[in-house]
Amino acid sequence: MGRFVLCITGASGVVYGYRTLEVLSRENEVHLIVSGSGETVLKEEMGITLKDIRERFPKVRIHDRRDMTSPLASGSRLREFQAVLVVPCSTSTLGNVANGINQNLIHRVCEVALKERVPLILLVREMPYSKIHLENMLKVTSAGAVVMSASPGFYHGPRKIEDLIDFVVGKVLDQAGVTHDLFRRWRE
Ligand SMILES: Cc1cc2nc3c(=O)[nH]c(=O)nc-3n(C[C@H](O)[C@H](O)[C@H](O)COP(=O)(O)O)c2cc1C
Repeated sequence: MGRFVLCITGASGVVYGYRTLEVLSRENEVHLIVSGSGETVLKEEMGITLKDIRERFPKVRIHDRRDMTSPLASGSRLREFQAVLVVPCSTSTLGNVANGINQNLIHRVCEVALKERVPLILLVREMPYSKIHLENMLKVTSAGAVVMSASPGFYHGPRKIEDLIDFVVGKVLDQAGVTHDLFRRWRE
């Protein structure tokens, strides 16, 4: 059993975050932070609220995004975690992390993860990318984060949307060091 921080921000594809929460929370301690826009997109794309998430995942610890006094904002506490995952990561959150600007707890947790060398995984979703997005991705990568794109492969024989979602989430979990059977690997 590991301990993870999962952040859901306001990029399209919040279902990736939801599915990550579902799989990760089966056998791990999960701390969840949802940005304000993350809540908006959860409502838009999945028709669910933070209250629904609280009811469906009673063991998941949900943190207030405004609470900068949270233990997660402290290096000595965040070091106890296996990884911080931002799924999906908006370009706004990416920009904040790349430039060290903390406007909410998600930004601060990402900053702390970088300084404490806790694995940080950002599943960035936007299309197309501007030069600013690409520069920010390079910046966070240089600082130690893993930038991933919400682009599924098609070599595992997907038949439904859920297979595509599981491919992306499986790739994220691979990076976080979590074993799973969400997709069939190449030549498996
Ligand atoms: C339905 C919807 C879809 C969005 N999709 C994206 C997206 O795919 N990528 C992105 O970077 N921003 C997207 N946005 C805009 C972000 O939500 C907005 O930039 C917000 O300020 C991000 O804040 P956050 O990073 O704190 O969640 C979307 C907004 C809405 C309402």
